[in-house]
Amino acid sequence: MPGHFITFEGGEGAGKSTQIARLKVYLESLGQSVLVTREPGGSPGAEKIRALLLSGEVKDLGPRGEAMLFAAARADHVDTTIKPALDRGQWVLCDRYADSTRVYQGEAGVDTDYLKLLETTAVAGVRPELTILIDIPAEIGLKRVARRSQTDDSGGPDRFEGEALNVHERRRRLFVELAKEEAFRFAVVDGTKDPEYVATAIRKAVSDRFAGELNTADDAQAVTRKEAR
Ligand code: TYD
Repeated sequence: MPGHFITFEGGEGAGKSTQIARLKVYLESLGQSVLVTREPGGSPGAEKIRALLLSGEVKDLGPRGEAMLFAAARADHVDTTIKPALDRGQWVLCDRYADSTRVYQGEAGVDTDYLKLLETTAVAGVRPELTILIDIPAEIGLKRVARRSQTDDSGGPDRFEGEALNVHERRRRLFVELAKEEAFRFAVVDGTKDPEYVATAIRKAVSDRFAGELNTADDAQAVTRKEAR
């Protein structure tokens, strides 16, 4: 693949979108072309499935059925958005990907082999070269989400945010275990730290992983100036 594929994972309120936006600015300051996308969604077809999943409208399908819909959305997203961008040589930064299915639907009791099969079909060989896990205790993440929904018009927690604290905490543990199992592609960052610290840790992980492909000698101040705009 001429481009590069980085995914971001973590529980609710980990700060993924903020950090993705910052990494985009950083990579662009180094002259790279970046596409930011998200799951579920990221293509017109997948966004329709996203609406069904997050509204809870299809909760009655059960976790296996939901897993299948996440996979259907992913397959469309890969075919119509991610793969073309990688073929064009872009950096693709994706907010959640297959690891979210392993963790969320895995936690909900869906069989691992079943999930593997869905994953293999959906991703069609398009796997992240680097996955940034922003790790944060569930309680802190959920407080952030609650604060955010007071100030926007999101209309309260979605189907997956609304689960009990122990469910969120189990998801967190599963993400950390996964990162240990596949340490070759994961970088774990402490999401309780301030955004500046987290952004720096992420830049370091990216520079380490893609050493030689980025001209990181570029003036770091240029990045700070761009971000400040
Ligand atoms: P979103 O609003 O994008 O959440 P966040 O800002 O936390 O990323 O909603 C996505 C929700 O869907 C989130 O709660 C995680 C869940 N999810 C799954 O259960 N399985 C999946 O495969 C994916 C991609 C997301």
